[in-house]
Amino acid sequence: MTDGRSNTGRLITFEGGDGSGKSTQLHMTETWLSEQGYKVRVTHEPGDTQLGKEIRRLLLEGEYTPVPECELLMFLADRAQHVREVMMPALEAGEWVLCDRYSDSTMAYQLAGRKLADLEGLNSMLSFAELGISPDLTLWFDLPVTEALHRIRSRSSMGEASTRLDEEAQSFHESVHAAFAKLHSVHSDRISRIDASEAIDRVQQQIQAVFTERGLV
Ligand code: TYD
Repeated sequence: MTDGRSNTGRLITFEGGDGSGKSTQLHMTETWLSEQGYKVRVTHEPGDTQLGKEIRRLLLEGEYTPVPECELLMFLADRAQHVREVMMPALEAGEWVLCDRYSDSTMAYQLAGRKLADLEGLNSMLSFAELGISPDLTLWFDLPVTEALHRIRSRSSMGEASTRLDEEAQSFHESVHAAFAKLHSVHSDRISRIDASEAIDRVQQQIQAVFTERGLV
């Protein structure tokens, strides 16, 4: 549950590998919640603040290749700025914050994908960047890596720019996927698995069912 705040807002994070369709579903969920009268704030990491946009550019456009430790610290820097500047005020105003990626992405991409997981003190660094704000619910969009890579390739053949991380080897994406699966099994109280291989409308139905089953709406 969300600590460090005294308000009625809720934080829902959308997580999964690249190409899992979570961003589309986030916007459909925004529409669904807004229609029910909830005030909804949509946001994403990295890059939802002015400073964060610069961090995102440095991290993802491919001009630089940060070492894994630097990459981790830059995602955490973006997060701290984002939490303080965007998420905290929205939550304090009682809004629902739908966030495209949060700390589980760092666990999956940097700790597992970049193999930093054994470094001492990493968990406290992750908590430090969250400033006490943790999700009420996390939706994990589970899609087999081969299918996800297929979607990424067809998006880029249609002219959509891919990021430095999209272009990582299949083994990297496999490690990321395995890490999300493990996070889901360890934190099943917080993380719900969504079968992202289904048709768009079916995926949205799964999400709405999770909100209802968990008594959120
Ligand atoms: P983005 O274009 O926003 O892709 P997506 O639609 O898949 O979210 O790219 C964000 C990339 O940043 C994505 O490859 C995951 C990565 N990322 C990390 O590696 N660590 C993190 O902590 C976060 C928030 C994102």
